[in-house]
Amino acid sequence: MISKSLQKARDFEKKYLPYTLSEQPSFHVTGGIGWINDPNGFAPYKGEYHLFFQYYPYDTKWGPMHWGHVKTRDFIRWERLPAALAPDAEYDRDGCFSGGAIELEDGRHLLMYTGVRNQRRRNGKLDYYQTQCIAIGDGVDYEKLADNPVIDASSLPEGGSVHDFRDPKLWRENGKYYAVIGNRPADGSGSILLFESEDARHWSYVSVLAASHNQYGRMWECPDFFPLDGQHVLLTSPQEMSAIGLEFHPGNANVCLIGQYDRKAHHLNREHVQAIDYGLDFYAPQTLLTDDGRRVMIAWMQNWETSACRLQELRFMGQMTLPRELSIRDGRLCQKPIRELEACRGVRIEYRNVLINGEANLRGISGRCLDMTVTVRSGKEKSMYKWFRLYVAKDGEHFTMIRYRPDTGTIKVDRTHSGFPHDIVNVREFPAGDKNGVLKLRVIMDRYSLELFVNDGEQAASFVLYTPPEAASISFSSDGSVLVDVEKYELQV
Ligand code: FRU
Repeated sequence: MISKSLQKARDFEKKYLPYTLSEQPSFHVTGGIGWINDPNGFAPYKGEYHLFFQYYPYDTKWGPMHWGHVKTRDFIRWERLPAALAPDAEYDRDGCFSGGAIELEDGRHLLMYTGVRNQRRRNGKLDYYQTQCIAIGDGVDYEKLADNPVIDASSLPEGGSVHDFRDPKLWRENGKYYAVIGNRPADGSGSILLFESEDARHWSYVSVLAASHNQYGRMWECPDFFPLDGQHVLLTSPQEMSAIGLEFHPGNANVCLIGQYDRKAHHLNREHVQAIDYGLDFYAPQTLLTDDGRRVMIAWMQNWETSACRLQELRFMGQMTLPRELSIRDGRLCQKPIRELEACRGVRIEYRNVLINGEANLRGISGRCLDMTVTVRSGKEKSMYKWFRLYVAKDGEHFTMIRYRPDTGTIKVDRTHSGFPHDIVNVREFPAGDKNGVLKLRVIMDRYSLELFVNDGEQAASFVLYTPPEAASISFSSDGSVLVDVEKYELQV
């Protein structure tokens, strides 16, 4: 049965979606119309990959959360499906917040999400009351369970807050279903709780898988937990993070914990902690395992802090990153653009051993929908350069700069002049070094975005760029001599 609120959202989509087609990025997911945030339910289902997202179709700002829906076979071309969930039940009347999805043994598709209802606390303050709820369907239409919510305050460990209890992510292992869920424990920071179930409907609390103890931000949102290259990885998005060196920026951040999973204690013993993405726009990632064994991640390519800043003429707000393949190299999380993107490579232009000393343009190297790799080496043996800069999305007025400094081993991306008219902070700098004097920068651009992958994915950094599309020049510059190889493809999707 489709509720009135869901039907209203679907009718609205039918009416207005066609008008936004020409505004869309070529291969990055948006809501088409309205607002989106976190990716939800990113999982395989019946031979395709489904992606849902936090969605408010009626405006380009956050509102009562629905789940929007798309699916794909290649992570590049996405088919839009009608909205899947609307906040239409007593227990989710103020929003269907983030969650996960899984294919059941009987072939049905199960979504688990956080149902949100505003409730007055004893101190008179209005606050969220959050529980976990289920809807089951066929890949298009979903029915909420009569016995929702399936996990509520009664399952929380002592001190756990029911006001911050959200974002279940599901998987199946050895015949059992598992969910990780973000929670705020008694110390006011964040923790990730593990739940298990035999049938995906009746759930019991297992353990605190990992906790912040106020070290990496406070409330931990949107967890994901999975094995990768012999270790286990926990991804989460902390609120109220404090800056730590150049690794973590303050505010709504993202963090990756890598370690060994103690299966007896159901606890992650962490060995390494790092940022997932070093850009300005990256939050709430989710992963899935492809049929050929790749762990693929997608995230909301936006930050909460500037989410009120948008281009008035666009009828959608918010987009996802390009899906990325994850691996662990030398103990670090690495990510590469999904390999299916290579099938979209069109005209190729290549330069080898170009000497840059000062500023230079290279014929044919320009564009705003491209896949470009720039390899930088010191020009003369032993001679040093202090900085190398790559300018993209450039015209007389605009540019975005990617700068590498070998002496500090840092990359800085600066979109101050990108034409983004709202925010004060437009710069991110992060640790990234060359390898024996060689630095590799892979730049993926698609209309409103720039994603940078350093040294085959040792670091990734995502940025929204609202630069007018005509600003498409690219230039190279250095204060010393560097030798540069450039391989650029237009992307045709
Ligand atoms: C993270 C988040 C989630 C929540 C959702 C609400 O961006 O705050 O914790 O489920 O957004 O839209």
